[in-house]
Order: sequence, then structure tokens, then C-alpha cells
Amino acid sequence: MLADKKNCPAIIGKNESRHMEKRMAGETEEGRGETARFGWRDALSRRRLVQWLGLGTAGGGLASLAGLRAAAIAADRPLSRELEQHAAHAMGAVGRVDTTAFDPTRFLRSWNFSDRPAGERERFYRETPRGDGTMLREYEIFAVDREIEIAPGVFFPAWTFNGQVPGPTLRATEGDTVRIRFVNQGSHPHTLHFHGWHHPSMDGSLPEQQVMPGGEFLYEFEAEPYGLHHYHCHAAPLKRHIHKGLYGAFIVDPRAGRPAADELVMVMNGFDTNFDGDNEVYAVNTVAHHHMHEPIEVRVGELVRVYLVNLTEFDPINSFHLHAMFFDVFRTGTRLETTETTDTLMMSQGERAILETRFRYPGDYMFHAHQSEFAELGWMGFFRAVAS
Ligand code: CU
Ligand code: CU
Repeated sequence: MLADKKNCPAIIGKNESRHMEKRMAGETEEGRGETARFGWRDALSRRRLVQWLGLGTAGGGLASLAGLRAAAIAADRPLSRELEQHAAHAMGAVGRVDTTAFDPTRFLRSWNFSDRPAGERERFYRETPRGDGTMLREYEIFAVDREIEIAPGVFFPAWTFNGQVPGPTLRATEGDTVRIRFVNQGSHPHTLHFHGWHHPSMDGSLPEQQVMPGGEFLYEFEAEPYGLHHYHCHAAPLKRHIHKGLYGAFIVDPRAGRPAADELVMVMNGFDTNFDGDNEVYAVNTVAHHHMHEPIEVRVGELVRVYLVNLTEFDPINSFHLHAMFFDVFRTGTRLETTETTDTLMMSQGERAILETRFRYPGDYMFHAHQSEFAELGWMGFFRAVAS
């Protein structure tokens, strides 16, 4: 089904051909033993991935038909014959990613290790109330190399915080003290670099602030200002360290809180599976097309608040588009009044925003990057609004 590279030079992108030369010369990262793993031995180009996901080719038609059927079954809507005939144009991967190790649906509503069983949670997170109403929040974060599945059968050799990509979402209230014991169990130097206010000695961005493999460092700062922030490794080369998976969301709540809502953390990310400086897989929370198969359940009329963070490397811009509803935007979450009401939000690398909406009608609402290519390569899904 997949075209041979020799017979089909058109499927080799410009980055890839440049990269192949370097690779043969042993100058690339995977030339030194790191490479993603697929159903075949060769590296995966962006266009090949489209084929792998069952898109855009005659051979892929069958595959995408299966994907489309699965989506239709999930949505309890059988496909019409007419639709089946055009299934080759459909989007979605065949098969499912094993979510035992990391479940994007659980990740949505988890912070401060709330997804871990009680006994285990205390190993990574402890909170101590203080007399003035603030908290001391203590975390154990470790860097570890781990292979993760980002699309059905596509395994990426990630560098992770606590074994997952994105790393665990950390959440505090303004004025709290955040204390993090960071242990580097990975094979490269890493750091924790937080967005927010802190002493420069806690910034984790200078060469002398790198934590060597086997080493550790204690980060401590006040949670300020309130808003939606994030953290990532700041070791060089920076884009490689971030792209490999070393990032996560950091939420700082205002002292007075925000209105009650169903809250969801969505980290937009991408994966360069062949290390050519170009992403082949895009997603929200890592697993391509996950929420096509498993829509995010929300309630009609209830306030839904999305903490949206863009940690996509290589592509300067990512975006979020919601069908059939609009949302209020709170850029960086540092103001309590919305500045914009829209259905499409564009964000640069490292930008983030809080989005709020209430779904009016029961049913499935598609969401995806408005860059169609990103959507086809994994960055799309559904909200499923159910009547309360
Ligand atoms: Cu790093
Ligand atoms: Cu940053």
C-alpha cells in the first residue's frame, strides 16, 4: 500500500531529502541511535504519515473507511452508502492507541496528580495549608526517557516528565509556595523552566542551571501571577528538548477563584517522528485523533472552561477552532474579563489562553486546528454535549 521511496520521489519533502543526506553522514540524532518506530523500518515523512493514517490514497480508502465507520458507530450514526463512497477523503486513524500508560481523556481533568491513586499521589504531590490561607505545594518531578504511542502503531522516543507527555498539570492559587524536587533520570541534561514570576536563580534556563543525568535540583517560588502558564525544559538545543515532550501546563488560580465550571486542560502539541525539523503528527494532548473516537463529554448549558496551551515546536503558529459555538477568550488568563469572543483562536509557540463556552444544544461539536493539515494529521476531535 505504501509507495516505495525510490519509485515515488515526490513523497520526499525538502526537509526530508536534506535530512536523509545528513542521516547517511551520521549527523542526525537518530543516526546516533534514536528513531521513532513504525510498522516498517523506514523513517516516516509527513505525507507518508497521511498514507499510514489511511488518507488520501486509493489504497488508504479502505483504511479510512474503517476509521470513518468506527467514528460513525461511536456517534451512533450509520454511514450512508454515498458517504462510504467518498471515504477516501475522510480523516482519522485506523485502530486505537493503547491508553493504559497515558489516557488523554483522563489527562483533561487531572492536575496535581489527581489521576493517581491516593497512596501513589502522595509520592509526587503534598499540600500543606498555612495560617494565612495559602498553601505550600510540594512536587516530585522527574525526567525520564520513555517510548510513547502517539498514533495507532506509531511509537515516539520521548523525553518525559513523570513518564507522560504532556507532563503532569501543576495547579496552585496565587500566593501559594511551589516547591519542586526535580530529579533527572534521563540520558541528557534537563531543567525545569517555569513561566511566571520568580527569582532568576529559579529560572532553569542558563547553562549552569542544567541538571545533569543522575542529578537533582530544588525549585521554589511563589505562584504568581494568576493565569494560565506552563513549564518546559530549557536545556540546549531548546527546540529539541521541548519537542521531545518535556512540557506541561501550570495553572495559577486567582485568590477569589473563577466561576464554577467543567474544566479541561488541552495542550496542543506535535511530533517530529523522523527528526527532520518538521512535525508528522499533531494532537491536543499527544494522541492523534483521540477525541474523534472518544468525544469529550460536556453538559448542555454548563460553563465549560478550557485551559489551552500551545507547545507545538517547529510550526510557529497553531490554532483552535470550535464548530457551531463561539467561546470567550482570556489570553494568558491574567484578566477576569474576556477580551474577545470568537470561534477561532491563533496562538504562537508558548502562548496560552483560557476559553469559556456553554454548549446550547445536545450533540457533537467538532474542534480542530484551523490549519487543515494539522487537523488531518491528528489535531481534531469532538465535544459531545449531553442534556443535563
Ligand atoms: Cu531537556
Ligand atoms: Cu517557555
